[in-house]
Amino acid sequence: MDFTGAHIVSIDQFERPDVEAVFSVADRMQPYALRQRVTRVLEGAILGNMFFEPSTRTRVSFGSAFNLLGGEVRETAGFESSALVKGESLQDTARVLSGFSDVICMRHPVEGSVADFASASRVPVLSGGDGANEHPTQALLDLYTIRKELADRGRSIDGLKIAMIGDLRFGRTVHSLGKLLRLYRDIEVVLISPEELSLPEDIVEAMRLSGIGVSISDHLTENIADVDIVYSTRIQEERFPSKQQADLYRGKFRLNQAIYTEYCQPNTVIMHPLPRDSRSDANELDSDLDNNPNLAIFRQTDNGVLVRMALFAMVLDVVDRVDAHAYDVRWYNARQT
Ligand code: CP
Repeated sequence: MDFTGAHIVSIDQFERPDVEAVFSVADRMQPYALRQRVTRVLEGAILGNMFFEPSTRTRVSFGSAFNLLGGEVRETAGFESSALVKGESLQDTARVLSGFSDVICMRHPVEGSVADFASASRVPVLSGGDGANEHPTQALLDLYTIRKELADRGRSIDGLKIAMIGDLRFGRTVHSLGKLLRLYRDIEVVLISPEELSLPEDIVEAMRLSGIGVSISDHLTENIADVDIVYSTRIQEERFPSKQQADLYRGKFRLNQAIYTEYCQPNTVIMHPLPRDSRSDANELDSDLDNNPNLAIFRQTDNGVLVRMALFAMVLDVVDRVDAHAYDVRWYNARQT
């Protein structure tokens, strides 16, 4: 894959060497993300950060990643503050905004909308999620986290066994992660969800065709005893016709420390794309897991900045100039303590 000028709208665009290249550049971004060094390599560049659905992590980590490379960020958050509410098409919006920006990140509630927008954009577009379809940069940061967590245990991604839990029908992060795992060998995936919220059949078929061993269950504790990773997801209430219908599934697959201790191996990694639903009737990852050293959810969010920095550097073709535009930080750095 030629990253220079590329849109990143689906995990289907990636081959394994592309993924390894992103991870290798992400590793090199560590001193900048940890505020040990500052680089100005993207000084003068502008990111148009357009989020038409709620977001904390993806929106802010795209923006932070761009700032950490020296670039500036212009944000549009929500339909109500954009001319889309006046009936402007996504394609017209893309033609306009790509005249103002060097790269655009976008989240939109409609499946396929980011690719539609990208087709009219004059600058690269990176997806921050399109409805219930895909969330490609989340899958990359998830796999980058899996790679690091397994490396700490003397393992590689090949041979991974992972349980994906919760709303697998509407959860776009598991759609992209399932597709991404097709690039690796000897992968086993256990899909744990209510039947109505099962992973879309086309993704299951594609995973099986690639050689992934896929098993399907609606029972949590019987299926997490021998997995390397438990990847929990939130019920995607915003995709249901009503809150009442989402409520039918809320809290079905709670993981807490007692269940973890009884049913998981002692070093099983706990992941979640976040946000986790911490309301008492949901609570899919209980806060009593917060002191469990295998809880990787905040390492995932930190890794997201590294992966998004890597993607910006690759798409804007500055990877080899990042260090040449760098200097040591001058302020007190709490992260080094
Ligand atoms: N994981 C994720 O997409 O989180 P946000 O909705 O906060 O961006």
